[in-house]
Amino acid sequence: MALEERQASWRVGVLYSQTGVTSTIERTQLNANLLAIEEINAGGGVLGRPVEPVIYDPASDPKKFRAFAEQLFQVDRIRLLFGCYMSSTRKAVLPVVEGHRGLLFYPTLYEGFEYSRNCIYTGAAPNQNSIQLARFLLSGYGNRFLFVGSNYVYPYESNRLMADFVVQSKGKVLDEVYVPLQAAEKDFDKVIARIKKTSPDVIFSTVVGTGTAALYRAYRAAGFDPTRMPIASLTTSEAEVAEMGAEVAEGHVTAAPFFETLSSPAARHFVSRFKQKYGDSAPVTAGAEAAYFQVHLAMRSVGKCGSDDPEQVLANLRDFEFDAPQGRVRVDPENNHTYLWPRIARLDRQGRFQIVWNPGVRVKPDPYCVVQSLDDWSVDEQQLIRP
Ligand code: ACM
Repeated sequence: MALEERQASWRVGVLYSQTGVTSTIERTQLNANLLAIEEINAGGGVLGRPVEPVIYDPASDPKKFRAFAEQLFQVDRIRLLFGCYMSSTRKAVLPVVEGHRGLLFYPTLYEGFEYSRNCIYTGAAPNQNSIQLARFLLSGYGNRFLFVGSNYVYPYESNRLMADFVVQSKGKVLDEVYVPLQAAEKDFDKVIARIKKTSPDVIFSTVVGTGTAALYRAYRAAGFDPTRMPIASLTTSEAEVAEMGAEVAEGHVTAAPFFETLSSPAARHFVSRFKQKYGDSAPVTAGAEAAYFQVHLAMRSVGKCGSDDPEQVLANLRDFEFDAPQGRVRVDPENNHTYLWPRIARLDRQGRFQIVWNPGVRVKPDPYCVVQSLDDWSVDEQQLIRP
């Protein structure tokens, strides 16, 4: 091997929005991605070669995601790509990744019902967050739901599945309202009016990005009581809470595999390293945690096979267990999704997620929700792996 070849870096593509409606959450993912790369490089890189991120800002725009992905594979000659938050951006990027026979590592919860051989999904599939959240809400608050979402694919599909769970438990979806992706507080007037008219037990929100703070503010301004009728969401993370403020956030509920307040030593270590690098007020989110561990997983696989050839990386990934901040994770070779640890938390007066349900089980991903029963995730031994 020539000297310059041995010393060359491993160039990897990194696509997270640094501007645009979802930039607050995506910046946490970018930061986590870069933290993992810094750790790998501080440890001598991979087989003596540093990892070099090639970064663009696709500004929460699916078309820009697709164009930058093309640039990364075609011009920058990367083979592994880390990134995407909104499902619309993942769906825009995937044909490019597949066309170049690359590998996308996608660190965000999503609606499921997708498989690409060229994608590793490290965020939660619906059987790892929606089912658990539905059970929690149905048993704790009631079975009359109102849905509110941003106007794109993830909210439609996530709501469709949540509706199945509500109906299974003899409940009712009272209304389903969509707002523009760039929603401001006044866009939620119709949602507030529908809540007043229908008096649901729970609001299930699939609003993403800056609209999230606007929704929770409008909800508080209307005088609703989150202890009786919370907004429950899978997309309200520490990042959106930082935007809305603690007073507005208190009492609302989120399900995710990782929260900044998780008390395990691995989680504390990750949060402390993240804050050391980015500052005490930098939010650490489930999306960031997935962005962090997926870089370690990917580059460990590169180290094992001595190549960033996506086929070889994919083949070697199958052998790994990785001690992520949320617990030990593993990619399921059956579907390229990841075994994860479901948890539910409620926001306290300080705007911190207090974990209210933490069963200590790792759940096998079932991205197509082949098992669509509210109970099966916890009773089918095939679905559960204990630590
Ligand atoms: C998402 O669009 N997957 C949050």
